[in-house]
Amino acid sequence: MNILVIGSGGREHALAWKAAQDQSVFEVFVCPGNAGTSLENKLSNISININKFKDVKDFCIEKNIALVIVGPEQPLVDGLVDYLQKSNIKTFGPSSAAAQLEGSKTFSKNFFVKYGIPTANYAAFSNFESAKDHLNKIPYPTVVKADGLAAGKGVIICQTKAEALQALVSIFKDNTFGIAGASVVIEEFLSGEEASFIAVVSKDKIIPLATSQDHKAVGDGDVGLNTGGMGAYSPAPIVDERMHKKILNEVMQPTMHGLINEGSPYLGFLYAGLMIKDGELKVLEFNCRFGDPETQPILLRLKSSLVELCIAAIDDNLDNHKIEWTKQHACGVVIASEGYPENYKKNNEVKIKVIDLDGVKLFHAGTKLNQNKIFTSGGRVFCATALGNNLREAQQKAYSLVESVAFNGAFCRKDIGDKGIR
Ligand code: AMP
Ligand code: GLY
Repeated sequence: MNILVIGSGGREHALAWKAAQDQSVFEVFVCPGNAGTSLENKLSNISININKFKDVKDFCIEKNIALVIVGPEQPLVDGLVDYLQKSNIKTFGPSSAAAQLEGSKTFSKNFFVKYGIPTANYAAFSNFESAKDHLNKIPYPTVVKADGLAAGKGVIICQTKAEALQALVSIFKDNTFGIAGASVVIEEFLSGEEASFIAVVSKDKIIPLATSQDHKAVGDGDVGLNTGGMGAYSPAPIVDERMHKKILNEVMQPTMHGLINEGSPYLGFLYAGLMIKDGELKVLEFNCRFGDPETQPILLRLKSSLVELCIAAIDDNLDNHKIEWTKQHACGVVIASEGYPENYKKNNEVKIKVIDLDGVKLFHAGTKLNQNKIFTSGGRVFCATALGNNLREAQQKAYSLVESVAFNGAFCRKDIGDKGIR
């Protein structure tokens, strides 16, 4: 069969690479993909404008696509899955209505309250003056969040009232996030340790994937600006057996049933971003997709078929579906361009040395191919990912793989995995 993966990041490289491992898979198309996906066996990049849903549909029909996996949030929120499913194309991902869990912070916060899902206290505002008034009534630090999709940049942690006011000015007056900033959520600052809980969900059935932990801040020791994620490891020891059950009972189950109740049953990867402290948890956010970079270490550990898992979910057949993991640990270190998550240079040529190490995979993200040479084209450029018999070994191998990549301005965090080892 042929598969189509939508997206161009490290997550999509990992999804397409994993899908291609099935014997039954003939070709995996990636739209638009990156240099890594264009160099990989059985994978080819295509360049359809994914905002033109009909063009995507026509391509699926022409190539006899048996499964579409949509990677990023924007096409999900825009309704690509709804459109393709109406045309009887098997597509893995939530409907636009269900994707509101990520697409609107106000929607998700109201949803959490309605269905008793633990989350930080908050208030939502659609105008500057009332949001500004609210700043007099709350303790600091606080968190200001643009309501809509903002490529991971819409969350501003404010240490003081002055910073919070600056965040509101930037959102409401300077329109920094455009329409995504038409309203804001102001919420209680939570401390603790973060974990990503990602599952495959089909209506009221759920298969949790291996646990993982991301590193959101740009600098070692979790300092500096928030990014899309600078590295991840799996499994995450903070999600022990008790916590795993608690997350299923208090977060995932009520969410799945809540969405059914709202008339928007979920299909796809469902990602709960959690803050854990003293054995208790709160939901920071939901994502309606697989995490990036969590996908890379998680899929390196998945032994069973990704394609069969997605198809079972679409066919409402998860009940008897089993997935299999290696007991090994995985660690993925993001190599980014100097300046990220703010301004950074593109079009730096990349040199990659081949190294002799088992169980490692260099996933591409912001790369493109030009006359058989690889150039940088994004902020997060690679995710050097490795398996090891324990997290320390996986970490050491991942950092050895990092050493095999060179381009002007390359940097990475040096402490990915340290928290899990501690
Ligand atoms: P979100 O997109 O809502 O998950 O926010 C992105 C990141 O901002 C999270 O992964 C956290 O690191 C941080 N964050 C979000 N909400 C809070 C909060 N209420 N308290 C502390 N940190 C937060
Ligand atoms: N790694 C965080 C995210 O995918 O949103």
